[in-house]
Amino acid sequence: KAGLKYFGAATDTPGFRERAGHESAYAQYDQIMWDSGEFGQTTPTNGQKWTFVEPTRGGFNYTEGEVVTSLAKKNGMYLRCHALVWHSQLAAWVEQGTWTKDELRQIIVDHITNVAGHWKGQCYAWDVVNEALNEDGTYRESVFYNVLGEEYLKLAFKTAHQVDPKAKLYYNDYNLEWPSAKTEGAQRIVKMLKAEGIRIDGVGLQAHLVAESAPTIDQHIDAIRGFAKLGVEVALTELDIRMTMPATDVNLAQQRSAYKNLVGACVQVCGCIGVTIWDFYDPFSWIPYVFPAEGAGLLWFEDFSKHPAYDGVVEAL
Ligand code: XIL
Repeated sequence: KAGLKYFGAATDTPGFRERAGHESAYAQYDQIMWDSGEFGQTTPTNGQKWTFVEPTRGGFNYTEGEVVTSLAKKNGMYLRCHALVWHSQLAAWVEQGTWTKDELRQIIVDHITNVAGHWKGQCYAWDVVNEALNEDGTYRESVFYNVLGEEYLKLAFKTAHQVDPKAKLYYNDYNLEWPSAKTEGAQRIVKMLKAEGIRIDGVGLQAHLVAESAPTIDQHIDAIRGFAKLGVEVALTELDIRMTMPATDVNLAQQRSAYKNLVGACVQVCGCIGVTIWDFYDPFSWIPYVFPAEGAGLLWFEDFSKHPAYDGVVEAL
């Protein structure tokens, strides 16, 4: 509906699916992921990150990333590629090095040239820079920011544009789904790049929300419009809506309306072009590993029955 091009799910390579001991679920999982027609898009949750693709300087390895990207191709799905420059899951050699500006510029250019070059023409979009902002809208400290300042964002987008001109180039971050100092920070990045004549095509709202305290649909609409007005597209790139465990009728109902509101906001704002849930099957979600005592953030329970939120999404679409 409206401007929506796809509804998809991110997925991982079997060896990295979050919870061990679910091998017996793989056949049913793969059937839903690739064969059921539920999803028209995917994103590799890990395999294209720096620590996997360039674990040592110049030592490029596409094995993990290729598992998901080749399945996307085989199944004719949109592919979002994730993520070129990010402070987290960064190779230790980059993070721990002491670099001059010139050295770090070269490292960024070499990384993007090789990685975006490897997948050239296959990615609907690339998350060129991921999570550059603090909650107050200032730039986050990272090896990239500490050495190069704001220049690293310009260099990353410029290089990505040269290497894969057909991929949509995105800035991607979390907590951008309602108006705040951080959404203003992300708007500032879009304006800054455009003012420099550097191409940016989209802003990814990761959308890692909490069922019990999710924003209203109007807040979502305001935030999405705020970006769309700047002439970039918007996508929900890593949607999950977690809850304090256990799941009950109450928090599952809250989750249902939270999903419906966010997906509904995307559908209602022209310029919001796609939705990706960050995996679809609760046992393979990252949530319990990062947010203790929280979980059940996706649309399929452990026994493969669907959350009430699945119907909320269907209603929104
Ligand atoms: C997460 C993955 O899902 C986990 O498997 C991994 O251990 C850590 O990263 N923001 C992002 C994603 O941009 O890449 C993160 O993915 C979740 C937060």
